[in-house]
Amino acid sequence: MLIAQLSDLHITAAPDDETARALRRAVSHLLTLPVLPDLVLITGDCTEHGEVGEYATFLALIEPLPMPVYAVPGNHDRRAPMLSALGQPGTQGLDGFMQYVVEAGPLRLIGLDTHLPGHDAGELCETRLGWLNERLSEVPERPCVIFMHHPPTPSGLKVMDGIGLRDPQVFEALVSRHLQVERVLAGHLHMAITRRCGGTLLMTAPGTRHTWLPDLGHPERLSVQLQSPACLLHSWTPGAGLVSFTSVIGDGLYQTLDLHDGTAWRS
Ligand SMILES: [Fe+2]
Repeated sequence: MLIAQLSDLHITAAPDDETARALRRAVSHLLTLPVLPDLVLITGDCTEHGEVGEYATFLALIEPLPMPVYAVPGNHDRRAPMLSALGQPGTQGLDGFMQYVVEAGPLRLIGLDTHLPGHDAGELCETRLGWLNERLSEVPERPCVIFMHHPPTPSGLKVMDGIGLRDPQVFEALVSRHLQVERVLAGHLHMAITRRCGGTLLMTAPGTRHTWLPDLGHPERLSVQLQSPACLLHSWTPGAGLVSFTSVIGDGLYQTLDLHDGTAWRS
């Protein structure tokens, strides 16, 4: 089982602006990987303003992907237009939210809706957290991946933490009671961070346009170096469990090196 994670596309209605070209590159990148992912997760901010025309552009741009694509809303999305364009994906969808379950081979994927209308910060209210607790309680033996837009922990970057998930400790306390949670995947930061979270591992994906590398000497302000865009790949195998890779999105002209033929190193 191979899961690709893209994040923070910020697509506008224009079919060929910089955001569209970046997503087109990301889609081509997924199609040229050595193994085609079984499914794609998009951890929010699919669009820039959450407008109907932007979702139409988004859907047209991901159309070449032959595998299922599952998205959750970010602060730049708007729930109603997103739900009407994409529908409620997966199963066990929570009424009024874009929150659902995807059974993916050996894994249970749980998409959470952290959107808080009118705010850049995110929220998981009692309804959404109660639903999450039920979904985690009903199959405790099945390895689970939670995906959402707002990272449910602080990053130490003051500006981003100011628009982070409200009351993240409540989410962490809930997740810490469910040992089958292998990963919490998020976006919003436009950068790749890995951190402890509720006894499991939080990873965030870079954006499809850039990876931000922040000036860590000045965490009170947000000054970032723009690096190549990237996506995350999460591979599940029975022996190794869930292993995550970062894949830089380049020009598509990748070389293949056959280093070992399965029995011996090649010279
Ligand atoms: Fe965001």
